[in-house]
Amino acid sequence: MAEIQIPENVVQFIRQLIPDLGPLFAEIEGECKRDYIPLIDPEVGQLLRVLIELKQARRILELGTGIGYSTLWMALNPRNEVKKLHITTVEIDPHRYERACHYFERAGVTAVVTPLLGDAKAIIPQLGGSFDFIFMDAAKGQYPAFFQKLWGLLEAGGVLVIDNVLMNGWVADLYWPERRKKTMVVRLRQLLEMLKTHKELITVTLPMGDGVTVCVKERKRTDKD
Ligand SMILES: C[S@@+](CC[C@H](N)C(=O)[O-])C[C@H]1O[C@@H](n2cnc3c(N)ncnc32)[C@H](O)[C@@H]1O
Repeated sequence: MAEIQIPENVVQFIRQLIPDLGPLFAEIEGECKRDYIPLIDPEVGQLLRVLIELKQARRILELGTGIGYSTLWMALNPRNEVKKLHITTVEIDPHRYERACHYFERAGVTAVVTPLLGDAKAIIPQLGGSFDFIFMDAAKGQYPAFFQKLWGLLEAGGVLVIDNVLMNGWVADLYWPERRKKTMVVRLRQLLEMLKTHKELITVTLPMGDGVTVCVKERKRTDKD
């Protein structure tokens, strides 16, 4: 099921247009369902693949590994073999981190994936180099703080993708069903407003899955442009 209200027949139709992923993906989906572990929707996985291909991304950063499902969507992009892409992925939960490492071994992607265990807030400042593609899928209430820390790591022309920005549609209505969700809804709304007016970003929010925002960081102009 998609989290925001998209007719179920449309969601299922779109999903069956995605090429078959094979048994490992089905196994991870089964574990996530059994243990209530969140994971991206398949159409979001396919969107990541398309954007990575469009951008010809090489250095990817992911916040929120979960048990590795979204990382594998990116790492096992059928066109990656020739691309030599590398993914750094950060997860705060030790059990999920272990499970992700297990799946990275089984998928044969340990050479292209560097999993890091810890709080993204502490890890981001320690990361060296820059990234041309960042996927943010961790604690929703911390997205504005993550964004501030990530900004300097995203290279000019780089792509930032953010998942769950609509939170069941609550962000559009500024509605929260219970008090403890309020911070997340309010901060996601603030983040989207901030992205809208950001002078160095061009941004679109897609009503897909639980809401996905895609931003592109402006390229620096040279005298030749
Ligand atoms: C929605 S799940 C990620 C799902 C994953 N991207 C996938 O689709 O397979 C969000 C993950 O972010 C992790 N997380 C939450 N806060 C974090 C933080 N501050 N630093 C790193 N990871 C965090 C959670 O433990 C959780 O596993």
